[in-house]
Amino acid sequence: MARKFFVGGNFKMNGTIESVKAIVNNLNEAKLDPNTEVVIAPPALYLLLVREHLKNGIQVAAQNVFDKPNGAYTGEISVSQLKDSGINWSILGHSERRTILKESDEVVASKTKVATEGGISVIWCCGESLEERESGNTISVIEGQLAAVAAKIDNWKNVVIAYEPIWAIGTGKVATVQQAQEVHAAIRKWLKANVSETVAAETRILYGGSVNGKNCKELAHEEDIDGFLVGGASLKPEFVDIINANQ
Ligand code: G3P
Repeated sequence: MARKFFVGGNFKMNGTIESVKAIVNNLNEAKLDPNTEVVIAPPALYLLLVREHLKNGIQVAAQNVFDKPNGAYTGEISVSQLKDSGINWSILGHSERRTILKESDEVVASKTKVATEGGISVIWCCGESLEERESGNTISVIEGQLAAVAAKIDNWKNVVIAYEPIWAIGTGKVATVQQAQEVHAAIRKWLKANVSETVAAETRILYGGSVNGKNCKELAHEEDIDGFLVGGASLKPEFVDIINANQ
């Protein structure tokens, strides 16, 4: 089964009502590749605004979701609240949450389980630090992150994996095509050996880290790169070029 190209836009903690509306208007007016699935993740405050104004079949993701049912969890948002608001995706395990907010592999895995079981599709992120790469531990770090999530979830149909080397995020230092393809192929190999051949063949694996309108085409050609998770450039008009990178 061919994997549909996927481009996610992670706005992170950026934007104002005005600038978010301008991004949405730009996407609404753009000519987008109909063969690319597009999901954008604005800050939680703007989720409904974006969902209400977006056209062109673009979907909306939260940047996080909690793994408990509604209740006394100040500051958190539940799976059922996302569903109630027509938000059907969440990013989980982004390295900024793993490092700054101290989310462990287990916390990320638990959130992924609760989200997928509750009907929320997940862009599940993994990636190594510069230190881990330089010490030759890239693949083992990724495999550890995969093992934690694979131990908790059964339904991989609603999961898209995003490989985001931490050293490439927001630094302008994009991974080379070879570096990205090597890790993507290793992720697929791990899925085949530890989950199933079908999951390995069908799961989209995105690359994230300083993707822009110029470097996206070359990366998109690689066999195991099924799309992108884009930070900074998703706030700019060039996001359209990234969405159309596979044409
Ligand atoms: O989730 C997207 C991301 O972390 C990459 O950010 O700004 O390097 O594209 P950026």
